[in-house]
Amino acid sequence: MRGAEAVSTYRGLPEQEAFDIEYWLLEEAKLQRMPRPKALAGRVALVTGGAGGIGRATAERYLREGACVVLADISDEALERVGAELSGAFSADVVRTVRMDVTDEGAVAGGLRAAALEYGGLDILVSNAGIASSAPIEETSLELWDRNMSILATGYFLVSREAFRLMGAQGIGGAMVFVASKNGLAASPNASAYCTAKAAEIHLARCLALEGAAKGIRVNVVNPDAVLKGSRIWQGDWLKERADAYGKDAAGLAEHYRERSLLKREVLPEDIAEAAYFLVSDASSKSTGNILNVDAGNKEAFTR
Ligand SMILES: NC(=O)c1ccc[n+]([C@@H]2O[C@H](COP(=O)([O-])OP(=O)(O)OC[C@H]3O[C@@H](n4cnc5c(N)ncnc54)[C@H](O)[C@@H]3O)[C@@H](O)[C@H]2O)c1
Repeated sequence: MRGAEAVSTYRGLPEQEAFDIEYWLLEEAKLQRMPRPKALAGRVALVTGGAGGIGRATAERYLREGACVVLADISDEALERVGAELSGAFSADVVRTVRMDVTDEGAVAGGLRAAALEYGGLDILVSNAGIASSAPIEETSLELWDRNMSILATGYFLVSREAFRLMGAQGIGGAMVFVASKNGLAASPNASAYCTAKAAEIHLARCLALEGAAKGIRVNVVNPDAVLKGSRIWQGDWLKERADAYGKDAAGLAEHYRERSLLKREVLPEDIAEAAYFLVSDASSKSTGNILNVDAGNKEAFTR
């Protein structure tokens, strides 16, 4: 257009001629031969705790389906590493990182704004940032209790509230997944602060499913259990504390979890990612307020 204007006056094709070209049989035949777009092509996803084990696997699953992904995490070092790895594997165009503490109201607003500025909006939120802690109730300090509540309950509230505002303004619906825990349904020894905060996450998701329905925003929960591979939670004290709680050594714990499950199988971050993919894809477009356990089977966590 600029070129035409430089020498003369730009004039578009007459409408009929443009129509004849667009709907020319050969043009249509060409379009029909194009590969179908990937399931999440054109969608923008933000994953909190995106530099951790489950968050990274979920981001990778979405990237494989054509989404643009913003990794939000509190750890600069992990963000830099995982951001670089995923950019290398997929393309720097489709991966962004943002440092965001989910307990900080201003940082959460800034993180979602950054995602919107980078990619034009938000279609998918995965609320996954988390920690784990273990202590008998008599030894659970107020500080430990508050830490669980602030990251797992308040953090999930702040992030989803901001995403609701953004998705509401967009007016085209959206999908959210809360990565909670089997422990949000099944009581577990010596982890009351963690279990209670995870139960709060699950109920928050249900409340938001109710509020989101009229806006086309779906909210569902994935409950992992004992995902040792790739998880930084399992590199800290949690491993020793859980091993102590079950009277095992560290090496025996993975085996203990596998044997405890109904299916006698190890749960991997990729298994959680698969559920988190299903729940944001169009394949689950008629599901909201649901809980999908990915725990190799655990009777205590059966929903009812
Ligand atoms: N791994 C398991 O066995 C398991 C089981 C049940 C539930 N979960 C849940 O899955 C989620 C992911 O866990 P994971 O196993 O991948 O652990 P992970 O430690 O590998 O990942 C968690 C990520 O969250 C980030 N994070 C922590 N506090 C944050 C904050 N305030 N703001 C932003 N980011 C923060 C961490 O830096 C980390 O990158 C957590 O919510 C966890 O409770 C994990």
